[in-house]
Amino acid sequence: MKNYIKIKNKITPFDKKIEVSGDKSISIRCVLLASQAVGKSKIYNLLESEDVINALKSVEKFGIKYKKIKNYHEINGLGINGFDNSKNVKLNAGNSGTLARLILGLLVNFTKKVTLVGDKSLSLRDFSRVTEPLKMFGAQVTSNKNKLPVSITGTKFLRPIRYYEKIGSAQCKSAVMLASLKSPGITKIKAKKSRNHTELLFKNLKIPIKIIKTKTFDYFEVKGETNFNSFEYNVPGDISSSSFFIVLTLLSKNSKLVVKNVNINNTRTGIIKILNMMNAKIKFKNKKFYKGEKISDILIKSTKNLKGIECPETLNSSAIDEFLVIFLVAAKANGISTFKNLGELNKKESPRLNIGIKFLKMIGIKVTRKNNNLKIFGNPNINLDKIYNIKNFKKDHRVFMMSCIAALSFGGEWNIYDKDSINSSFPNFLKITKRLGAKIY
Ligand code: S3P
Repeated sequence: MKNYIKIKNKITPFDKKIEVSGDKSISIRCVLLASQAVGKSKIYNLLESEDVINALKSVEKFGIKYKKIKNYHEINGLGINGFDNSKNVKLNAGNSGTLARLILGLLVNFTKKVTLVGDKSLSLRDFSRVTEPLKMFGAQVTSNKNKLPVSITGTKFLRPIRYYEKIGSAQCKSAVMLASLKSPGITKIKAKKSRNHTELLFKNLKIPIKIIKTKTFDYFEVKGETNFNSFEYNVPGDISSSSFFIVLTLLSKNSKLVVKNVNINNTRTGIIKILNMMNAKIKFKNKKFYKGEKISDILIKSTKNLKGIECPETLNSSAIDEFLVIFLVAAKANGISTFKNLGELNKKESPRLNIGIKFLKMIGIKVTRKNNNLKIFGNPNINLDKIYNIKNFKKDHRVFMMSCIAALSFGGEWNIYDKDSINSSFPNFLKITKRLGAKIY
């Protein structure tokens, strides 16, 4: 089957309501925590993408049974000491950094050897950020120069740790939280602000956790060795998946969009704050709370007078997965946009900072870079008419989807390769894009 798509026309004006699939971060956490609960958990609206399916297959390797029944996934957890400890295991996390790093946290008490591998992109990523704290708990970890394959052999003689998470990585914070479930005593974490789904789930599941928040850091104390009951969870829509359509609407002519039921947790809405600073006037409607998460419909309209901004660095973490599409908005804005300290972008599924800059230059936008700081010189009249071939992006799903949005917003003739990359996070992406009226061949 052909693995590329062709886009030859900008999207025509649309006025639509859509729903995107379940949040990936929450879906993976639900699977991992359900595997540690006692009894059958029911997860509704679980994202059915490769990253999440790999999470289900991973816990299955330890004897955890799951099945899909009607509109929910049932996962039969066996408690915090319930993984079948009788043999060595080989795990494949595919493309998912979140799965790979979080599941390592669950393995600190698994006394056989687990060898973790992943796809080409994941094999280029650093694991020391998570293996270092896990070693402090007492687990033995080896790696290929801090990259995959990583092998972990846990122990029944764990000790609680004090850990200072300095990067603002939710994956590192969460891996340590999951490991702290297994350890006796109290694990203390000081963490730079990052997405907070793990701690919200802990609270919800009545896992003993104390949380103190300050402006830049959060402090946690987790009391380990406490079993918790199975649960029901209805996963809200993913704001990261929504972001492609939010930006498409902003950049298109005379269009309106409502994205229903999206997770608008404060630690994830950096993109909305940034776009509104650029004049976007995105609104929330029908806000409600669900198990500590904030959920809402998002209302977006085309915006003509987008303006360049100095993006506050404090929003980097809550917009971390959305910068590629934010760069597209900066490309069309009036004036210069500046972004600071985006080094973490180069540690994602592909080196997204480098790829983003190359992409903007390719479409004729002036960009300057000093260290990891960017200046994007917007062009409100951007209108493309050349042929663009997008390949060699390490099959990064977000690069594929961002390229489609650029094609549909700015014109030109585009061949975008590695279509199957979207399966890791958002298999419905092209279907929804076509529902908005896009012509994709
Ligand atoms: C995620 C955290 C972020 C994000 C990733 C998902 C999570 O990574 O980029 O897509 O679910 O915890 P870092 O924790 O490395 O910043």
